[in-house]
Amino acid sequence: MKKIIKNGTIATAADTYQADILIENEKITMIGKDLSAEGAEIIDAKGAYIFPGGIDPHTHLDMPFGGTTTKDDYETGTIAAAYGGTTTIIDFCLTEKGVPLKKAIETWHEKANEKAAIDYGFHLMISEINDEVLAELPSIIDNEGISSFKVFMAYKNVFQADDATLYRTLVHAKELGALVMVHAENGDVIDYLTKQALAEGNTDPIYHALTRPPELEGEATGRAAKLTEMANGQLYVVHVTCEDAVEKITEARNKGVDIWGETCPQYLVLDQSYLEKPHFEGSKYVWSPPLREKKNQEVLWNALKMGQLQTIGSDQCSFDFKGQKELGREDFTKIPNGGPTIEDRMSILFSEGVMKERITLNQFVDMTSTRAAKLFGLFPKKGTIAVGSDADIVIFDPRVERAISADTHHMAVDYNAFEGMEITGEPVSVLSRGQFVIKDKQFVGEAGKGQFLKRAKYNSALKPDTVKKLTV
Ligand code: URP
Ligand code: ZN
Ligand code: ZN
Ligand code: ZN
Repeated sequence: MKKIIKNGTIATAADTYQADILIENEKITMIGKDLSAEGAEIIDAKGAYIFPGGIDPHTHLDMPFGGTTTKDDYETGTIAAAYGGTTTIIDFCLTEKGVPLKKAIETWHEKANEKAAIDYGFHLMISEINDEVLAELPSIIDNEGISSFKVFMAYKNVFQADDATLYRTLVHAKELGALVMVHAENGDVIDYLTKQALAEGNTDPIYHALTRPPELEGEATGRAAKLTEMANGQLYVVHVTCEDAVEKITEARNKGVDIWGETCPQYLVLDQSYLEKPHFEGSKYVWSPPLREKKNQEVLWNALKMGQLQTIGSDQCSFDFKGQKELGREDFTKIPNGGPTIEDRMSILFSEGVMKERITLNQFVDMTSTRAAKLFGLFPKKGTIAVGSDADIVIFDPRVERAISADTHHMAVDYNAFEGMEITGEPVSVLSRGQFVIKDKQFVGEAGKGQFLKRAKYNSALKPDTVKKLTV
């Protein structure tokens, strides 16, 4: 099985150039001018960019939350991801206290097996550290191929772990070669402010944002950064939304702390005022951390441009408006948190970022694919266009103008958070390990074809001060 992609402009995290790409079976085997190979299928990409398949390092598919379960499962979620140019996701495997971690991983494999249309890996949630957990961790990294752990500093009495658990996770992850991820918000103070709001009869969606102010994200981010410094550990802060948090990450990075930051499309283009939409429509925009005041958007864009934040995750966590978001009509704390973002992650970043000259084309590739591959042990199999890499490829037409809409999206939910947004650019065809999953804007893949990715350990040579030392 051979294919040659011709006439396109290849963009990687480092370079932009014109060349043909030869694909044999699952791999890229040659890049060069005027390639030919007997029997090869020729794919004409004239006028299009060729990107490495997107890597979405932050998804929640088929996840129970707030008494309900996300609408998108591994089938609808990964098909929608493919439409958006994403060929790999890393999803969060939830765990329960007292239940072996292996059991939780099995449950997540069952959700994904036979359903995933693109390749996938798992991060593992850690909510307690004890002898049983410590005994399991080495095998989870070495045998299960799960080299990143997630700790929640918020969602009190649900997912929240205490500071000692975060600290101990950082210490052990460093020893074992895993990257620790945090949801950084001060869950205790949020819990207090939430109870106070409800006691005062404040039940509307906007109170979700008002009870989780940016100061509490900044505080938790600073605390996590300090604990990382003390533990000489390595940390990745998920879904950064505001200046308060960017400042703490920047400060720590400038000291050489091994800390990375992710933001999401929703925080770059939507703002807190969406939570005030009438007829309970504000519930569609309930994320944790919440959407922020508009002034934070330029801070986030600038942090991406300057390298203080490095990746774009979707934080896909979708619930229908009807029947799911509506659970919180009388009480904002009962609105399931999250939204549908897996499909539009790359297109929004391209249109709002590259086309509006906030970031470069090569930064776009780095943020949507390459950097996640490097941080999460997938590079160079994934995350780049190079000889020997998997042929995970997006043929992207930068000229198409379109509006995002639930009428045309492929996620299973009944609304789109970016409804009506005019954007430029669209994935036309997408290959996963050499096979089309999207061809001329139609899904031609198969549920179950996606493979589980055992990921390598965290590479501490990526650390900010190591990079500095290498360049002086
Ligand atoms: O609101 C969100 N972000 N839902 C998904 C769970 C999480 O905290 O990432
Ligand atoms: Zn397994
Ligand atoms: Zn979170
Ligand atoms: Zn999340």
